[in-house]
Amino acid sequence: MMLEGASILLVDDSLETLELLGDCLSLSDCKVIKANTGNKALEMLKRNHVAIAIVDINLPDINGISVLDAIKQHDPTVAVVMITGYPEPNFVVNAMKKGASDFLIKPFELDKLMMVMMRVSRERELLVENKTILDSLEDKKKIELLNRRLQKKIEELTIMFHISNKLNALSIVDDVYENMVQIVREILEVPSCGYYVADKEKGEMVLLVEKRGTEGLPNPRKINLAKEFLSKAALSKGYVLKETRLFLPLIIKDECIGFMSVGGKSGNGRFSEDEIFLLKLVTEKVSTKIENRMLYESLYNSILHTLSSLIIAINRRDSYTEGHCGRVTQMSQMLAGKMALQDYEKQMLRIVGPVHDLGKVGIPDAILLKPARLSPDEYEVMKDHSIFGEEIMKGFEILTEEARIIRHHHERFDGQGYPDALVGNEIPICCRLIAVCDAYDAMTSDRPYKKPLSKKDAMAEIKRCGGSQFDPDVTSCFLSMQEVGQ
Ligand SMILES: [Fe+2]
Repeated sequence: MMLEGASILLVDDSLETLELLGDCLSLSDCKVIKANTGNKALEMLKRNHVAIAIVDINLPDINGISVLDAIKQHDPTVAVVMITGYPEPNFVVNAMKKGASDFLIKPFELDKLMMVMMRVSRERELLVENKTILDSLEDKKKIELLNRRLQKKIEELTIMFHISNKLNALSIVDDVYENMVQIVREILEVPSCGYYVADKEKGEMVLLVEKRGTEGLPNPRKINLAKEFLSKAALSKGYVLKETRLFLPLIIKDECIGFMSVGGKSGNGRFSEDEIFLLKLVTEKVSTKIENRMLYESLYNSILHTLSSLIIAINRRDSYTEGHCGRVTQMSQMLAGKMALQDYEKQMLRIVGPVHDLGKVGIPDAILLKPARLSPDEYEVMKDHSIFGEEIMKGFEILTEEARIIRHHHERFDGQGYPDALVGNEIPICCRLIAVCDAYDAMTSDRPYKKPLSKKDAMAEIKRCGGSQFDPDVTSCFLSMQEVGQ
């Protein structure tokens, strides 16, 4: 039997009817709950699980329709069968609208009751099943929504990671502004992006770099630096919207140094909150980058200043070195350009060139200033200058790579050099460059104990040593450079 075990709420003001229907349903193994007023019925509904309710329309306190309403609000899956003695069309329609499953008109046969109960019970089962399906659909929708949110978060994080990565990868010689503008074009696919330098004295800002696609409108070359740009509100909000362009300030130590301009979108050209968030992230990161760079540069400049004092001291002691180091620096810089070395390598040569022999401060006068060729023992002492130089340079923490170049500037390509007998590409490229220029200049210089070689003879000697003492590629590049220079 489908009714077996179903809990049924009977609501009728007639105790006789309650008894009769109750007995009948109990015979079908239903769990019967009885109430003779509307309020009692609602009270029981709260405390019991009910599958089907049979409700008389005429109750002493509240009418049956209100009870039906309350039951449906409490649990829409409860099937409600209404009982009435006098079926009025209005009542019937009203009850159906509120979700009544069926009507029993008094007096009714008990068979009829059972038929109705069976049908209602089956309908209810379908309804409950349906609801479960709907609920799981609802869950599925929720999961889909969560998934979409997660996806968006991942995309956002990926972009943020991309921004950080790109900016962190910039070396000290890369153009931050150009890269910033490029990154923004990449992540937001905006038609145009530029960077303006703020000139507060002139009250204007001037376009420094710009990148735009074929659809991007050109950025004006100059823009009036009106108050709206520098107002506290604009700076704290992090952007100014002017026509379809968004201007984001770059702030260094509470000072606005310029603006990134993003825009040129056609149509309304609006930016979403997410886009603005990412743009602010870029300008903040770039500001930090510039600030660090300024710090680095001031540190670098003070080190260069110290080094130049050191160079003066060295040159006072050994006047030969002065011109020599200058020429070696100049030649190795030219060679670096010809060999298309990286910018940071050229920068290193600029620093290392003038001081590559600074370790000579640790060599005794008797050896350093000896107006004759060195004996083998003296030569061994002289070799220490590359290690002394490295030690001095290491004192400047940001020059560790430069210190390494000084250590290895007397290594030979064939591994016969000092102090570590490095071979071939183990020797830093800057050292391989310095080695050739150093040797060439030494050969062509006048020393008390030897006559200078002619340029031609010196070049022949360099050529002869290419592949043994010197890197063959550097050698051939050096020779072709010197030939052009002649
Ligand atoms: Fe040297």
